[in-house]
Amino acid sequence: MKRRIGILTSGGDTPGMNAGIRSVVMAADAAGFSVMGITKGYAGLIEGRIDRIKTEDVDGIVEKGGTILKTARCEDFKTEAGQKKALQVIKAFDIAGVVVIGGDGSFAGAKVLSHLGVPTIGIPGTIDNDLAYTDFTIGFDTTVNCVVGEMSKIRDTMKSHERVGVIEVMGNKCGDIALYAGIAGGAEHIIVPEVEFDIDYICDRILGNRIKGKMTSIVLISEGAGKGEAVANYMRAKANLDAKAIVLGYIQRGGAPTAIDRIRATRIGVRAVQLLEKGIGNRVVGIRDNQILDEDIDEALSKELVFRRELYDEFKMMSENI
Ligand code: ADP
Ligand code: F6P
Repeated sequence: MKRRIGILTSGGDTPGMNAGIRSVVMAADAAGFSVMGITKGYAGLIEGRIDRIKTEDVDGIVEKGGTILKTARCEDFKTEAGQKKALQVIKAFDIAGVVVIGGDGSFAGAKVLSHLGVPTIGIPGTIDNDLAYTDFTIGFDTTVNCVVGEMSKIRDTMKSHERVGVIEVMGNKCGDIALYAGIAGGAEHIIVPEVEFDIDYICDRILGNRIKGKMTSIVLISEGAGKGEAVANYMRAKANLDAKAIVLGYIQRGGAPTAIDRIRATRIGVRAVQLLEKGIGNRVVGIRDNQILDEDIDEALSKELVFRRELYDEFKMMSENI
């Protein structure tokens, strides 16, 4: 019988997870493994929701958003009893190693599996770009592009009504989605959790611009910095601005992955299989300076996320007078 590896997706889904699954399945096939797809993350692992996944099952999924394996958050897997059950299932299915696609929470689970003796590799799948050991996570680029596209539509209607659009985007505690999309989409103001903001100063700037004839502004706010609705309410009440809050929500987590996300997912998936081929576990794979790297999970998780302050400062410098 071929050696078996398992694969699961966990936490919030991201565009590019399917490209990662495809890459792992195809690379594993080439390396002489058969792949077992675990449905619904650690919950499915505990419940034994596991089926063989073949190369024909991943045909064409490189371009699909979401995850064919489905995903979940599972409190049970954080308990010793849940982990013991998962280990029994892994043994029953004769799985020799596991690939986990998810964020830092999912990686904590991958670490648990490795420590239980199941070599496990983490692939960074989260739109938030909040993993310090890798320059970019899979899904981030697609989300940024989605936000940029939606901003453009929102600007059309805000301009027609001479309104202020306050767009709230995801990112959890990380401001990268707002920062990158704000720069690419030409936002007038970017509010991120990593930098203190002064709402009165933003209102003054918008009011000053209105006197000069620029009637519309787009404010991009990261969910970790506050609620778009609260900012818009404040602008209406304190500055008499016709401000509208728009929460982009799940629209920014779905859809076809960008080419960049597909390429990153594919390259990272190949490295994950190469590690399991050598029986190596307890590592996460990522990308730094466009090079694929792998790193010990504990080391990767202990790294502090550094905000790309230079990007923010460049934005502030060039947008000071708008
Ligand atoms: P993400 O992977 O996107 O950060 P979560 O933080 O929600 O998402 O974690 C996803 C899942 O990973 C959790 O629901 C749980 O099943 C598992 N997990 C998170 N933290 C731990 C932990 N400390 N030990 C074991 N499993 C964990
Ligand atoms: O971690 C990804 C993410 O989309 C965050 O940006 C967001 O805060 C959260 O997940 C939403 O989680 P849920 O799917 O539970 O609503």
